[in-house]
Amino acid sequence: MLNLGLLCTQIKVEEKLLMEEAGCRVHNVIKADMRDLVFGLENYFPFDVVLARDFMHPRDLCALFLLEKANIRTVNSYDVARRCSDKVAVSKLLRKNGISTPDVLVAFTPESALQAMDRMGYPVILKPAVGTWGQLLAKVNDREGAEALLEHKDHLGSYYHSIFYMQKYIPKPGRDIQVIVVGDEVVCAIYRVGKHWITHPDRGAEIENCPVTKELQDLALKAARAVGGGVLSIDVMETKDGLTVHEVNGVGEFRHMLEPTGVNIPAKILDYVEKVTVNV
Ligand SMILES: Nc1ncnc2c1ncn2[C@@H]1O[C@H](COP(=O)(O)OP(=O)(O)O)[C@@H](O)[C@H]1O
Ligand SMILES: [Mg+2]
Repeated sequence: MLNLGLLCTQIKVEEKLLMEEAGCRVHNVIKADMRDLVFGLENYFPFDVVLARDFMHPRDLCALFLLEKANIRTVNSYDVARRCSDKVAVSKLLRKNGISTPDVLVAFTPESALQAMDRMGYPVILKPAVGTWGQLLAKVNDREGAEALLEHKDHLGSYYHSIFYMQKYIPKPGRDIQVIVVGDEVVCAIYRVGKHWITHPDRGAEIENCPVTKELQDLALKAARAVGGGVLSIDVMETKDGLTVHEVNGVGEFRHMLEPTGVNIPAKILDYVEKVTVNV
């Protein structure tokens, strides 16, 4: 029996399923609502382990940091969560570890970003360095588009948009692949099939099971290790030269994967949480 902290704001389908699974294993689930938490510098927490379900916002990372420094095992760890919240860090770690990933240029002013896009060659994908759900991604097809977009960003952009992360556009076959890795196991993969270049369910992409080939398995495990391992979602594109990883995230929504893959993802996550807690 574990005292399992669930660090989150909203209880969505995924959190419900995780709580049900934890209940079946007679763990004591304690909801740690981000909206209510107040940390001092010497808190006591009644958790053996904390499963973080919010992980994109700096405040989630801050909470994770404080919990970990209070000697509580967190899933994912603070370091892994921090790396995965930052596309620059993920791209760098993938390339550094010899994993195929699209070329990226990083710049800090609109002027240098424009030069970088010219250098990269259009189309360029401009992404917020921090962000997800396909939000605020832009496919910049030419220099005129780049100039207009950068001017808008300069005037309207927030603190988050002062890092210009530009990725080479990869022509892909109307789909990409999302792989779930938990610890040392690739638990399942899906195709996201859509007409829009952003193949995301929110943009109408359909979900199909993707067979986990040896190539996909090796690539996903290497990508997971490159960011430090844990409960991870690996985004992969198919190119004429083989598979390439364009993103690694913590596992957020997974409801759409359950039926097509037939894999009990909450059970896999709970298995991992138990394993790493016992091993502390
Ligand atoms: N470099 C790229 N070339 C072509 N398509 C891309 C590229 N980067 C992202 N996409 C498409 O956009 C989607 C969302 O991009 P991603 O980098 O995964 O951001 P998010 O954090 O929003 O998930 C991907 O699933 C893919 O379909
Ligand atoms: Mg993605």
